[in-house]
Amino acid sequence: MKVIFDTDPGIDDAMALLYLSKLPQIELLGITTVVGNSNLDITTRNAQFLRRQFGISAPVVRGAAETLDGVVKDEPTIVHGHNGLGDIDIPEVGDEGLQHGTAADFIIDTLHAHPGEVTIIAVGRMTNLALALRKDPSVAALAKQVIIMGGAFGYKGRSGNVTPVAEANIHGDPVAADEIFGAAWPVVVVGLDVTHEIVLTSAYLAMLADEAGDNGELLRQMCGHYARFYNAIMGFDGVVGHDLLAVTYALHPEWFETRSGPIRVVTEGLAVGQTIQKPDTRKGGDPAWSDRPSHLICTAVDGTRVLEHYRQTV
Ligand code: BDR
Ligand code: CA
Repeated sequence: MKVIFDTDPGIDDAMALLYLSKLPQIELLGITTVVGNSNLDITTRNAQFLRRQFGISAPVVRGAAETLDGVVKDEPTIVHGHNGLGDIDIPEVGDEGLQHGTAADFIIDTLHAHPGEVTIIAVGRMTNLALALRKDPSVAALAKQVIIMGGAFGYKGRSGNVTPVAEANIHGDPVAADEIFGAAWPVVVVGLDVTHEIVLTSAYLAMLADEAGDNGELLRQMCGHYARFYNAIMGFDGVVGHDLLAVTYALHPEWFETRSGPIRVVTEGLAVGQTIQKPDTRKGGDPAWSDRPSHLICTAVDGTRVLEHYRQTV
């Protein structure tokens, strides 16, 4: 499976990238970066470092430093630390692994080079994808699938994690997200409704440190900061592996329950960043919905199975 990984590393982004690097079924074509968990210089440097650390040969391509709504958001240092990776020591990487050009152009060129073959796994703000779509709307017909970590649709009472209704990747660039959901490519949304089933407890992280060599230990160290955040805010032991679940979906969609329907994002006002789906089963002709393509949202997942698969893989 050919994959472009669009990311803002980010601790759970690092978990997802390690997973991708260990799956023999995956042919990683490129890692595109975006502002989000840190500024673009930092997320790009982190992607380069993780590429080296995980022995990945695919290039890193810099993407958007600013979002389409033009609103500058605070960096979530409380979640991912000041360096985006839980404040672990990160060596100099210089230009290593960096490919010239923009992420949007890389996405366009790669989709044209492999029509119908490339899965985009996007686990940050959707700015790069939206810029690609604006520049060349034909890419929507060329992608095999677009798997997005983002959003919260209210299943199991899951609300947002930035505001009561908005999840970080969508809230970070709601304009981009609404454009992505408005395009007729096959989109699957892996939101907070299911990612909160993927809790890596301190015992699980210790097991990875024992069993997954240097990379397992690296994840455990990165997660120290992340775990303090979850403990303080949500009161539980462990961290949520949001982004890794988007990778699981690429391989094992049968482990998920989904619902189909058009999706909209609130782009301004109090509820900015809220994601709403109108189920296909609910009929009615309101053009705000009926003029939009249907996409899948994930409504349930077998978290135990996913965590075991992750452990076996990494
Ligand atoms: C998402 O926001 C980021 O902080 C994480 O990396 C993940 O992609 C979770 O809401
Ligand atoms: Ca992310």
